Amino acid sequence: MGYQDDAAAKSDVDRRSFLGSLGWLGVSISGLIAVVGNLLYLKPTVSYGPASRIVAGKPADFTVGAREVFENAQFALVREQDGFAAISLVCTHLRCTVRTSEAGFECPCHGSQYDRNGSITGGPAPEPLDWYKVGITPNGELEIDKTVKVSQGTYFNI
Ligand code: FES
Repeated sequence: MGYQDDAAAKSDVDRRSFLGSLGWLGVSISGLIAVVGNLLYLKPTVSYGPASRIVAGKPADFTVGAREVFENAQFALVREQDGFAAISLVCTHLRCTVRTSEAGFECPCHGSQYDRNGSITGGPAPEPLDWYKVGITPNGELEIDKTVKVSQGTYFNI
């Protein structure tokens, strides 16, 4: 009898300590989830877009009549007799990316068309394409500042 009582008591202790361990495991997992959740909450979820100032190269790299597309930065650097211009490739209708065409620019989404200066020649676009400020860096490279819009026809001369 005494032996069985000892075995039953030991079984109770084993069960009790097993359930206790399970409880601590649950608490530990809950705590870990809370800590990870808080760390993820504290981590900023900022997504950085493309740079607003883009160095495009030396002026001599572009011949008169050139229209160099900077696809990632979404503008075309244009060189005309009057100087340099940076014309946005963002359609003013619903912001699709326009592509260059023989006549200027065209939007693949709803068919807006723009001339070489970005003026509307067809389609639903409500505004001409934006022009960005073009300047020069201290080491003589063209720099486009996409935070500054200039009026159409504002060419940068060296
Ligand atoms: S987004 Fe360009 S025409 Fe609609």
